[in-house]
Amino acid sequence: MTFSNDFMWGGATAANQVEGAWNVGGKGPSTQDHIAQGSREVIRKYTENIEEGIIYPSHEAVDFYHHYKEDIAMFAEMGFKIYRMSIAWTRIFPNGDDAEPNKEGIEFYRSVFQELKKYGIEPLVTLSHYEMPYNLAIKYDGWADRKCIDFYLKYSETVFREYKGLVKYWLTFNEINSLSLSTGGYFNGGIMSIAGGFGPMEYPNETAEHISRRYTALHHQFIASAKAVNLAHEIDSNYQVGCMIAGLTSYPYTPNPDDMLAAQKQKREQLFFAGDIHVKGEYPYYMKRYFKENGINITMESGDADVLKSGTVDFFTFSYYSTGCISTDPEAEKTGGNLIFGVKNPYLDTSDWGWQIDPKGLRYFLNEFYDRYRLPIIITENGLGADDTLEADGSVHDPYRIEYMRQHFQQMEEAIKDGVDLIGYTAWGCIDIVSLSTGEMKKRYGMIYVDKDEKGNGSLKRYRKDSFYWYKKVIESNGEDLS
Ligand code: BG6
Repeated sequence: MTFSNDFMWGGATAANQVEGAWNVGGKGPSTQDHIAQGSREVIRKYTENIEEGIIYPSHEAVDFYHHYKEDIAMFAEMGFKIYRMSIAWTRIFPNGDDAEPNKEGIEFYRSVFQELKKYGIEPLVTLSHYEMPYNLAIKYDGWADRKCIDFYLKYSETVFREYKGLVKYWLTFNEINSLSLSTGGYFNGGIMSIAGGFGPMEYPNETAEHISRRYTALHHQFIASAKAVNLAHEIDSNYQVGCMIAGLTSYPYTPNPDDMLAAQKQKREQLFFAGDIHVKGEYPYYMKRYFKENGINITMESGDADVLKSGTVDFFTFSYYSTGCISTDPEAEKTGGNLIFGVKNPYLDTSDWGWQIDPKGLRYFLNEFYDRYRLPIIITENGLGADDTLEADGSVHDPYRIEYMRQHFQQMEEAIKDGVDLIGYTAWGCIDIVSLSTGEMKKRYGMIYVDKDEKGNGSLKRYRKDSFYWYKKVIESNGEDLS
């Protein structure tokens, strides 16, 4: 057997993409609750007020809030050992700076964790998955203000204490390295001052001041993460706290040394930078030149270096969907993605949304990460976004998803044989959820189909796709049967 007996097979979602009930049970509005639906062609827009006639995908999502028992039962039926989910900060502290937590929110997640425990499914909890209380974004300009570190720690401490004994694995921030991109201010930190605040989530023309602000926000997240790691260990020595890095993975487009250097630079600045801090506990040497040349000044306080050094993570996780190429040729044809758009690789096929499919790249990057960090690894996101069809008899035939997963699992096997300490895999959007980049419902990743369309119509009824039965078989055989 290649996969160890305790390999953690499972699935993953995020609160704002799955829960709905955005203003129920004392929950406050989050930054995601202000982001309108878009499409592959129309960029999602951030609105200051909740406007009539606009669809905000997070408001209902797929209503996990009211369906969690049914959904968890289906995860259990597939044989999940682990379920990655996030807590909506705004269910616990509706405004982020409240004096007391919201009891109803605390009880909701307690029930979810108890339900998971009933089936022996281990939760893997992301504290902040691309959202924060809207109030913090508006009043403090989000993570650009150092005060958010304390708000985040108060929230973290609350959940670390409340869920002791129910949760073991935590992740501090989803895809923290997204803040090394100009789009990151929207998705990740709710930093309104970047690119003029509200409007479409496109690549803004940032000034040097904006860029400094973005990296300062990221620095605050690194400090918050390191402090949360220490806090978690103090509260429960069994807690394991990891980081989560967006797999912004790429190859040089040609062996031209200029392309090689450009690819190395992209990987360091956008892929490795955040992981290097989380795992090694200090800013990597190569960022000094980048900061200097881009006029980036981060406000570091005395003691920050020690905090980073002390709060390194216990395990490493990343998302992996596709790879791109890096070229110095400005004319080179671009490929699709949600955070970065590399150059098209002539050897790879693409998904319906233009994302390049690269199973072997997963083996390659698992080795790259393990080489660099030597920590146990969990792949916390991977999957294929596709427009599935629900047949009249309630079946959904998704051979393309099965093929995508099969090929990625084969490469995971190879990586394990290479010696990588891969301990888990959580398929992204194991149940259909709304897409982050487009806000669409029809971009489905799930093995469970949810009856809901683009306009929000549908019964919200759940159906098992063909991939549901296939994944069940894979888990049952612990990865031996991929047929
Ligand atoms: C990751 C995010 O970047 O990609 C998820 O962490 C997101 O929240 C996933 O859903 C897939 O992207 P998309 O845009 O297809 O939903």
